[in-house]
Amino acid sequence: MRLLFLGDIMAHAGRTCIAQHLPKLRERYRPDCVIANVDNAAHGMGVTSSILEELQAVGVDVFTGGNHVWDKKEGRQALSQWPNLVRPCNHPIPLPGSASFLYTTPDGGKILIFQMLGTFPAQAPVDNPFIAADRFIQDFTLGANISAIFVDFHADITSEKMALAYYLDGRVSAVIGTHTHIPSCDTMILPKGTAYQTDTGMCGDYQSVIGMNPQAAIDRFLFPYKTVSLTPAEGEATLCGTLVDINASGLACAIAPIRVGGILTGSLPEA
Ligand SMILES: [Fe+2]
Ligand SMILES: [Fe+2]
Repeated sequence: MRLLFLGDIMAHAGRTCIAQHLPKLRERYRPDCVIANVDNAAHGMGVTSSILEELQAVGVDVFTGGNHVWDKKEGRQALSQWPNLVRPCNHPIPLPGSASFLYTTPDGGKILIFQMLGTFPAQAPVDNPFIAADRFIQDFTLGANISAIFVDFHADITSEKMALAYYLDGRVSAVIGTHTHIPSCDTMILPKGTAYQTDTGMCGDYQSVIGMNPQAAIDRFLFPYKTVSLTPAEGEATLCGTLVDINASGLACAIAPIRVGGILTGSLPEA
């Protein structure tokens, strides 16, 4: 089984690169499931139903959110309407939306997908992500009653991400990080068979500060007492993602980064 995960889709530029490249990537790599992080899909913050429709039409099967998934009223509505839009599962209070999603592939494979927020910086109180993950996987055994378990860890701190991956090693198929928007070059398979990457990167314009126009971001650091509005960069985006191959035991047998288009060095030319 092959999964394709796409990092934080950033605003219009990110959505445009998904529409441009995803159909060709689907054809070339034949993933059984395409999962995309949509935390920033609507003008950099949150998501709407019409954006989910647009992304589904070009080949995304399952969506994950993050710390911005609540930002827009339409996003909060979408969480109740789209079972395949997964919100972070480690909030201490009851919230609308799916805390996990069970995706069935065309040939009957079952993939459990869930997402946690990291604990730093504490934008909102969250439950311990390690304990939350334990809760979600306790009823599943890879290769027995589930074909694959995919975890999107939406977090800032690299040590927290690596520690979670080692904690879950051998119990889930993949732990892939999102949220920093910067792809890390540490795609690997851990000793007990879990695929790992600290961050898959964003699908967005890298002539930016993590997807936002640079000047406003610079001003925020120079003049922190001033409220400066960030606006998404709208130049050509790089599609960043990760391919993971999973064997019959539900463990990873291959992992590779994907980068297409835009200004990131090492991007593939257009497919
Ligand atoms: Fe985020
Ligand atoms: Fe993000």
